[in-house]
Amino acid sequence: MNPNSAAAKIRKLSRLRPTLALVLGSGFKHVLQEFAVDARVTYAKLPGFPKPGVAGHDGELLIGKLGDTPAIVLSGRAHFYEGHAMEQVTFAVRALAAYGIRDLLLTNAAGGINRKFRAGDFMLLTDHINLMGANPLRGPELPGLPRFVDMTRAYDAKLSALLAAAARTAKIKLQRGVYLAVSGPSYETPAEVRAFARLGAGAVGMSTVPETLVARQHGLHVAALSCITNLAAGISKSPLSHAEVLETAERVKLTGARLLKEFGKLYGQHQ
Ligand code: HPA
Repeated sequence: MNPNSAAAKIRKLSRLRPTLALVLGSGFKHVLQEFAVDARVTYAKLPGFPKPGVAGHDGELLIGKLGDTPAIVLSGRAHFYEGHAMEQVTFAVRALAAYGIRDLLLTNAAGGINRKFRAGDFMLLTDHINLMGANPLRGPELPGLPRFVDMTRAYDAKLSALLAAAARTAKIKLQRGVYLAVSGPSYETPAEVRAFARLGAGAVGMSTVPETLVARQHGLHVAALSCITNLAAGISKSPLSHAEVLETAERVKLTGARLLKEFGKLYGQHQ
């Protein structure tokens, strides 16, 4: 599948030409209530887009305005643990790059490893560790794109500063940390979580990193936010469950939405 075909189809949906795109994970969907939608389309209608399968992950692309700022929102993503190839997991990012997006904000749910974190906190990603056991850049060289992608500054300083400013304005505490990605879908063992803490991870999750890698290959600026939906295994006193993840996401949905809305506003002012 060619990302250019999907990009052409997205261009026909709306006259808006956003440079910003957001990928909404658990805990961030509520921002759609604040999004002035100009056009929307399900992934099924976009050639090459994957079919997300987890409860709470629909698959829809929306174009509109977030606090007066034109943006594309991807609501729902395909996960590696669902059995999708990395190529499918990251196809939407390549389509966004082909469309002309320059800045990408990725959001996700994650388990808190840093002992200072509480369920319901938000964490700005300062960096990541890829332990998914796969890399979406593996495969034939793509024309016009680098073979070896520098990841020294995976997460963009300017976009991250805008997120920090948005959190300050909205009076939301913003934690910072390194996101460690695993393939899932099992949660971690306490021994794994202790090991990840020693590696310097602040949180653990099952997404985002493939999208960051592909976005950086295309030269997009990336920022990312985790909703700490639970304390990671062994740190939490109780067993982990997807129900807990969804419960926390629901509890802090208004906060997540405010943070993203404020970010959209500030982003618009800095263009
Ligand atoms: N581990 C991995 N992925 C997650 C977690 C977790 O504890 N919480 C939400 N996504």
